[in-house]
Formats: sequence, C-alpha cells, structure tokens
Amino acid sequence: MTVLGETGVFDVADVDAIRWYYQMHGYVVVRGLLDHALFGQMEQECVAAQEGVLSGRLSERYGSTAFLDEAAKAEFFVNYVEHVSEVSDAVRTAITSPQLTAIMAELLGPGCWLGDDNRAGVVYQDARPGKESGYTRIGWHSDWQAGPSLDVWPATAFTFHLDGTSPQNGFLRVVPGSQLWSTPAPYSNINNVPVPATARPAGGHSQVPPPFPMPLGFEKVRGEVAVYVEAGDVILHDCFLWHAAARATDDGATRRHVRGSYFGGTVPAAGAASEFIKNAAR
Ligand SMILES: [Fe+2]
Repeated sequence: MTVLGETGVFDVADVDAIRWYYQMHGYVVVRGLLDHALFGQMEQECVAAQEGVLSGRLSERYGSTAFLDEAAKAEFFVNYVEHVSEVSDAVRTAITSPQLTAIMAELLGPGCWLGDDNRAGVVYQDARPGKESGYTRIGWHSDWQAGPSLDVWPATAFTFHLDGTSPQNGFLRVVPGSQLWSTPAPYSNINNVPVPATARPAGGHSQVPPPFPMPLGFEKVRGEVAVYVEAGDVILHDCFLWHAAARATDDGATRRHVRGSYFGGTVPAAGAASEFIKNAAR
C-alpha cells in the first residue's frame, strides 16, 4: 500500500487503498492523476475560459451567477465557468481518463456515469476572498441535499486542484464518516427555497441518524478535519459527506479547481426537470 506520508493521500495507482479510505471516511485525496503537461494545459484552458466568459467570447451557457452571494459582481469577475469540459480539452481528457474512471467504477459500480450534461455540468471555480469576488466560502452541506428528489444518487464528486490549499487561500472541511449517517434533506430552509414534496426525507449510506444536527453555517463540528492538498491533487468525496469550505485569510490568494461528479444511480430521462436547492450559508 502506498501511503504518501500524509493522512488520506494515495497514489493514483493504489486503487485498493483509495477505495478502503474513501469507504471508511467518505473522502480521499488522489495524487498523480494529472501529469505535468496535462496540468499545465488544464490551467491555461480554464483561465482562458474564465476570460472568455468575462469578455463575452463564450456564450451565456458557460457563465453563471447561480451560486454567487452577490450576483452583481459577475460583471467584473468570473467565479465560475460551467460546462467547462466542453471548452477545455484537458478537462475532458482528465475527467474521462482510464485511471479516474477505473476508480469511479470501484466506488460506484461499473455502470456509473459522468454528470457532464445535467445542471451546470463540470465547473471551473475560482474562489478568492478579494472584494471583487462573489464567492469565497460555503457552509455545511452534503451534495445530495441539493437534489433530494432525484434518482441519480449515489455519487462521487471529483475536484481537480489547480492551486494547493491552505488556511491562506481556503480549504475543504469534512466530517469523516458522516456519509454513513442518514442526514435530513435539506436541513434548513432559511434560503427560502421550497423543499420539493417529492424529496426523500434523508440520505446516507445507513439508516442511522446523525448524532447531532448539521449546523446551519460555519460552526465547528465535532470530529471535523481540514483537507489540504497540493496543486494537481484530486479530492474525491461522497455525495452524503458533510463538508464545507473555509474562506481564505489572504486577500491576494487564489483557490482554483475543476469539479464535477460521477453518479451511480439512474440516468435522468432526456429533458427531465433538474433540481437544485441552493445551500443557505455561502
Ligand atoms: Fe459540495
């Protein structure tokens, strides 16, 4: 077993360890998935796409304010490029690589599928704390809570990191093992988004309820850990895992990544209504 001297970080070839750690903790860091050339190409193409949304060279399909705290800021700065796999060869290559798809098949089953066509598809995200930015952080949630009526679950999210993470530029917070709890959905409605009547009452890998409610915002959670990565690392996390992103402390720092999900459930019918319940605390 190749353990790279950091907790929960494994070489891409060590699929047994990746599966073991992921199933126990609900997340894992995969190292070595991107080679140097592909990493450089991905960074360059994502930055070009970001500029393309701002300048209007790319159509509205690729720019979105759906996730922003302050949508008006999108005029001056682009936090998100949606469907980025359609405009970046490197992103498309990386997210469909044999190594990643083999890992996803281990975690979700051989019939799993890439969610590149639903909602926002694969997203390039530039989270930075400067005042030009409309997105800097996100409160506690599980990804499943954004679509509790859908039959697409379970899912595993991937995040390709173009910048390493730290307290200076922001980082992921997770509650290891929380993917096993049956977490209510969505946990709060202070965002005034109606919970669909069709929503499942709870989601998780067991029927055991959480030992305490998921907090509404950024509160410290018993058992939580910080997940720090190097540039080029890929975090995989379960759709039922409790997670949040901490805001950067350095206004000049950037935290850029490409994220999306593979799903193990039913492929939505063409034209089926998508569901997206925005998390309250961002
Ligand atoms: Fe999430």
